[in-house]
Amino acid sequence: MEKLLEVKNLEVSFQTYGGEVHAVRGVSFHVNKGETLAIVGESGSGKSVTSQAIMRLIPTPPGKIKNGQILFNGEDLVQKTDKEMEEIRGRDIGMIFQDPMTSLNPTMKVGRQIMEVLIKHQKMSHAAAKERAIELLRLVGISMPEKRVNQYPHEFSGGMRQRAMIAIALASNPKLLIADEPTTALDVTIQAQILELMKDLQKKLGTSIIFITHDLGVVANMADRVAVMYAGKIVEMGTVDEIFYDPRHPYTWGLLASMPSLDSDDKKELAAIPGSPPDLTNPPKGDAFAPRNPYAMRIDFEQEPPMFKISDTHYAATWLLHPDAPKVEPPEAVKKRLRKLSSNYEKPILVKESE
Ligand SMILES: Nc1ncnc2c1ncn2[C@@H]1O[C@H](COP(=O)(O)OP(=O)(O)OP(=O)(O)O)[C@@H](O)[C@H]1O
Ligand SMILES: [Mg+2]
Repeated sequence: MEKLLEVKNLEVSFQTYGGEVHAVRGVSFHVNKGETLAIVGESGSGKSVTSQAIMRLIPTPPGKIKNGQILFNGEDLVQKTDKEMEEIRGRDIGMIFQDPMTSLNPTMKVGRQIMEVLIKHQKMSHAAAKERAIELLRLVGISMPEKRVNQYPHEFSGGMRQRAMIAIALASNPKLLIADEPTTALDVTIQAQILELMKDLQKKLGTSIIFITHDLGVVANMADRVAVMYAGKIVEMGTVDEIFYDPRHPYTWGLLASMPSLDSDDKKELAAIPGSPPDLTNPPKGDAFAPRNPYAMRIDFEQEPPMFKISDTHYAATWLLHPDAPKVEPPEAVKKRLRKLSSNYEKPILVKESE
């Protein structure tokens, strides 16, 4: 499979009054052409900062890409000028944010904002761009698009703004679409529609997608692979089946037991991971998860675990994978939740037949 994006040893930090916040601490991963990578992790783990770095949208100052490479089609985005990045954002990489108001221009009609992309980057005529803008608004489920195309963002409801932003991101037929919790604010039906829409686009155009979500159902239905982030690092990475079937990092176990799934009724069973993430102005020296890890060994507090390889696609950074470590199993509650979730999805095999 061909790699579209390859992030190597990315480090991003922010200068604050409290000191330097090490938000992303040496993250490496890749995204193949046409595939969807889900990034999951507790709040503050660095998911949004990682995606903003790919788009080169880290506010500088206070933020800075301190180290690493972001290879897109083999070219390092870290080295691009702002002008080159503007071109790449309009043509090759689209982004859907958590908060639509951060990317919609409040002083410009929604239709015009879609048309700009089409006129500037796809060299469409004004009339063709307007027609396509209406079509895109209809595509993302906005009713009366002929009227809405002439309205400003403040005339749209929250859900409609979200959809308008998706229309803008799709306008350029991007090779890579980064979706940062794009459906959190929407009701379940609209969410499902938007996800379908993104899948359609992917099928038609071979788009690669990075999908940041807190919803396990979305991961199961959308993703090919999953990266699990904790305290600014990827702690486990694998195909969806590997992560759901055979998770290896105790943090992944906790996360799988704590993440909601909107299309399921098991909210009562969710168990938050006890404790809280470390202070990223002063990251701990061993495994950052050690103080919250019921299986932590002495080495976890002293030395950072390497990425252990489980298969060609499955890696995890936990000392439990060291050949000399005691063998431990995910807690029964985690296994139970995964068994239950598996009955909700089309994907046939989230849990082994024998269980
Ligand atoms: N502009 C900023 N200034 C200072 N610190 C920042 C800034 N932006 C992000 N951070 C810090 O970087 C860390 C990672 O934040 P990030 O937004 O990537 O988390 P996240 O995984 O996206 O969380 P969530 O699930 O809540 O969206 C956090 O500690 C956050 O406080
Ligand atoms: Mg975020």
